[in-house]
Amino acid sequence: MATVIAVANQKGGVGKTTTTANLGAALALRGRRVLLVDLDPQGNLTSAFGLEKNVQQTVAESLLDRRVPLPVLRVSNGLSEAPDCLAVVPATVELAATEAQLINKLGRELRLRDQLLALEDAYDYVMIDTPPSLGTLTINALVAATRVIIPTEARFFSLQGLQKLEESIEEILYLNPRLEVLGILLSKFDRRLKEERQVADYLRRRWHVSVFSTEVGTNSKILEAGSAGTSVFHYAGAEKAVETYLALADEVLTRA
Ligand SMILES: Nc1ncnc2c1ncn2[C@@H]1O[C@H](COP(=O)(O)OP(=O)(O)OP(=O)(O)O)[C@@H](O)[C@H]1O
Ligand SMILES: [Mg+2]
Repeated sequence: MATVIAVANQKGGVGKTTTTANLGAALALRGRRVLLVDLDPQGNLTSAFGLEKNVQQTVAESLLDRRVPLPVLRVSNGLSEAPDCLAVVPATVELAATEAQLINKLGRELRLRDQLLALEDAYDYVMIDTPPSLGTLTINALVAATRVIIPTEARFFSLQGLQKLEESIEEILYLNPRLEVLGILLSKFDRRLKEERQVADYLRRRWHVSVFSTEVGTNSKILEAGSAGTSVFHYAGAEKAVETYLALADEVLTRA
């Protein structure tokens, strides 16, 4: 049975998609069968693997109609000797209209969980990338998951956002009592800035939720790989980032 991990933070641009893509690729490199679900109408996760041209069907249709199975696109690892263990359920901007339509539907918060049941034996890990809001799509991810990873910047204003997100997760327990926070991830950490060092220190010492020991530093190769439609594992010069995401994967494998 797959471990389902939602990657969530209602604050925009904190590294949710980048974490989902690179941690997912790292878990696949560690031999796990990994499915990544793009639950954001921005479709950034789909683009992060250069899949936007291959999309025929999206997660949207499967949320509206339970008889339509989730569409799964394989991501090639470029190795002929090893099987591809990474796959993506894509999204496009249509998903924004779907979220609005779901408002009037029964079981609107349960629809992704219901669809993932059919796939849970085919994967070891399912990771869900969510939009920067706490709307129906993010709720679907938190209801389908048993674990949440919270990527965050180490800024003073991020702390209020974290508090709000934790309150929302608390509410989700009514629908999904098994949900636990796996950890907070410093996903764009700039050690040169005093504010960031102070906030990181505060989170590690005082916050009631554990922070991953692995921290992802700001690194232009991470940004460039995403824009080029690939993970850091297929991007020249990204050795430091490769090492970081593999360390994060090992930490996740120990915690989850
Ligand atoms: N460690 C990093 N170093 C440098 N750039 C990064 C890093 N992590 C993410 N980025 C860049 O920051 C931008 C925002 O990251 P990303 O898209 O992953 O955030 P997000 O939380 O998914 O955003 P949204 O809320 O819009 O979905 C992207 O351009 C990404 O390439
Ligand atoms: Mg994103």
